[in-house]
Amino acid sequence: MSSHSFSSRMKKNHLDQFYTIEKCVENAVDQIDGILQHVTTTIDSSAGTNYFCKYLKSKYPNIKTISYDIDPPINCEGQVHKQDFLKLSKSQTNGVTLLGFNPPFGYRGVQAKKFIEHGIKVFYPDIIFMIVPNMISQSRYSGYDLILHEKLRANSFVIPDGTTFSFKCTLVCHSRISFDAFTSIPPNVQTK
Ligand SMILES: C[S@@+](CC[C@H](N)C(=O)[O-])C[C@H]1O[C@@H](n2cnc3c(N)ncnc32)[C@H](O)[C@@H]1O
Repeated sequence: MSSHSFSSRMKKNHLDQFYTIEKCVENAVDQIDGILQHVTTTIDSSAGTNYFCKYLKSKYPNIKTISYDIDPPINCEGQVHKQDFLKLSKSQTNGVTLLGFNPPFGYRGVQAKKFIEHGIKVFYPDIIFMIVPNMISQSRYSGYDLILHEKLRANSFVIPDGTTFSFKCTLVCHSRISFDAFTSIPPNVQTK
């Protein structure tokens, strides 16, 4: 596909309906194994194919996963609630809660930031684990420490026709839990 037709197709993709390649999801999840051992519930704000949840469940069957997407693809895995995440109202979750994973980015990352801020308001998650555009990757959220900040590799995303592409993104993890409270500091996590 020419780069012209690719960029014009992406411009028409108002909901940012592209997906994180499975290997990238797996690498991301594997990095926070030490944290996931303590997680009770995960919320995916914009699940797409829901592979994040599928892979999590394969490693941690006891984690309760809740997935939302405004327009879930027909081939999505498991249950994805058809829901505008930004219209969800306050909700309570059980135990240690993680909010993920790859929200729509919007212009200059504005939409991704809205998803994180709305997720904090609605769920007050203990952990936020998100792929965000580089330009907002240093954003801080009150009460949370930035404990992981890692640039994504090239070709981490795919559009529904199978074309992979790159976008300058970072995997971030913010936590309002002190991991000193647990028996060990999670492996593979850079503390501040
Ligand atoms: C960049 S894709 C990522 C999908 C998936 N998280 C992944 O990593 O493969 C963003 C997803 O957000 C969904 N989306 C867009 N606006 C939304 C909204 N207001 N509420 C919930 N989902 C939304 C799109 O349908 C799309 O599936």
